[in-house]
Amino acid sequence: MSNDAFRLISPSGNELELPTHTGTTGPDVVDIGRLYREQGVFTYDPGFVATGSCKSDITFIDGEEGVLMYRGYPVEQLAAHSNFIEVCYLLLYGELPNTAELDAFDSTIRRHTMLNEGMLKFFNGFRYDAHPMAMLSAVVGSMSAYYHDTTDVHNPEHRDIFSHRILAKLPTIAAAAYKLNSGQPFVHPRNDLGYCENLLQMFFAVPAEPYEMDTVAAEALDLLFILHADHEQNCSTSTVRMAGSSGANPYSAIAAGISALWGPAHGGANEAVLEMLKEIGDTSQIKKYVAKAKDKDDPFRLMGFGHRVYKNFDPRATIIRDMCHKVIASLDGRDAPMFELALELEQVALKDDYFIEKNLYPNVDFYSGIIYRALGIPTSMFTVMFALGRSVGWCAHWREMISDPHAKISRPRQLYTGAAKRDYIAVEKR
Ligand code: SDX
Repeated sequence: MSNDAFRLISPSGNELELPTHTGTTGPDVVDIGRLYREQGVFTYDPGFVATGSCKSDITFIDGEEGVLMYRGYPVEQLAAHSNFIEVCYLLLYGELPNTAELDAFDSTIRRHTMLNEGMLKFFNGFRYDAHPMAMLSAVVGSMSAYYHDTTDVHNPEHRDIFSHRILAKLPTIAAAAYKLNSGQPFVHPRNDLGYCENLLQMFFAVPAEPYEMDTVAAEALDLLFILHADHEQNCSTSTVRMAGSSGANPYSAIAAGISALWGPAHGGANEAVLEMLKEIGDTSQIKKYVAKAKDKDDPFRLMGFGHRVYKNFDPRATIIRDMCHKVIASLDGRDAPMFELALELEQVALKDDYFIEKNLYPNVDFYSGIIYRALGIPTSMFTVMFALGRSVGWCAHWREMISDPHAKISRPRQLYTGAAKRDYIAVEKR
């Protein structure tokens, strides 16, 4: 990394040189590490809009050019030629696997999909209509109460076992949550099936009849999981890094990431898109709701539009937009009015000056929610599906953070705007 300097003049006239660092590609960063020590000031960047929290080799995003690369491979190429399990290996280990490595990794994931029987009993305690994200974060957090054998975060083998368990068991936990919500018996995982096929049979198989695999759905899910696998320092991944930076049990750090993802401004947006479409109702209401989204005094926003980083288009949305239209076209008219509404809303927003000026394009959540619904997955499970894809990104970033010899506990500062110092007043004198 180069070390050109950024020169600043403080209000008192002091000249300060701050080194810059240059990465493989993307903007340079200004290292402000000495700023407080030498000038007694903090930087201020609510929401970390322009703040780099770490160095990372995992994923690169260019928001202006609509670029997304995992370990240097453009997501378009991985979407066209790879599969989710291979992308998991790439994100965790940094290189595409050869055949033997891929087969061994795939076999390890397949053979760790079962849950401890005690963990399954948690589902007897949840209300039948508990939100699946609440169950996912609770049961994943409980994994730290089961796996005492791999808690040495500085042991590479323990880090591998933790990552494999998260990847392998999250689909089973997700399916158990879905079965509780649907009042159907839990379906055990099958080691003879691939990641997506196994997920589908755990979701949709019932004891009363043989399950017929929907290969189109399996392919659609595999693509969606590739596109959701990682996304640099997004809110949930930064949460995993922050929680993990204290040395906390990694299962707890992943549970924290799941909770952060749940928010409607982040991974909860795909569920919020479908709720929004239900609220809009039909195409005659589109103009009214687009006007609400543009009204500063109205909290309504078009869910599934806009992005903190992508200010032109979300490359993932471009990839799944075609598949979304194909899936809608392949339906037997089921939910046709809702899908027509979604396509019409997409067109209106893409042509509206407000959305064009503010670079508010459909993001990955706009299309993924529609595809999940078309696959028969209930709206409440949409963010769980996002979590299944993103679980590998969380693990990759946790491993990178925890194995960095220079890693520190994350502890930002603040601008204090509260009361100035004052003395206590006895209650009888207030
Ligand atoms: C994900 O970070 C990631 O990488 C996330 C993610 C990932 O893979 O991890 O990509 C996944 O979370 C995608 C985003 C899903 N969220 C939504 O679809 C929710 C709707 N979108 C908005 O909440 C918003 O666009 C954000 C949260 C996504 C981005 O917000 P920013 O970057 O903080 O931008 P902002 O809120 O400052 O908005 C800029 C302007 C504002 O107007 P002004 O104050 O400048 O006048 O655009 C407006 C906003 O009011 N605006 C919208 C809007 N999004 C932003 N107006 C109407 N509808 C919207 N959706």
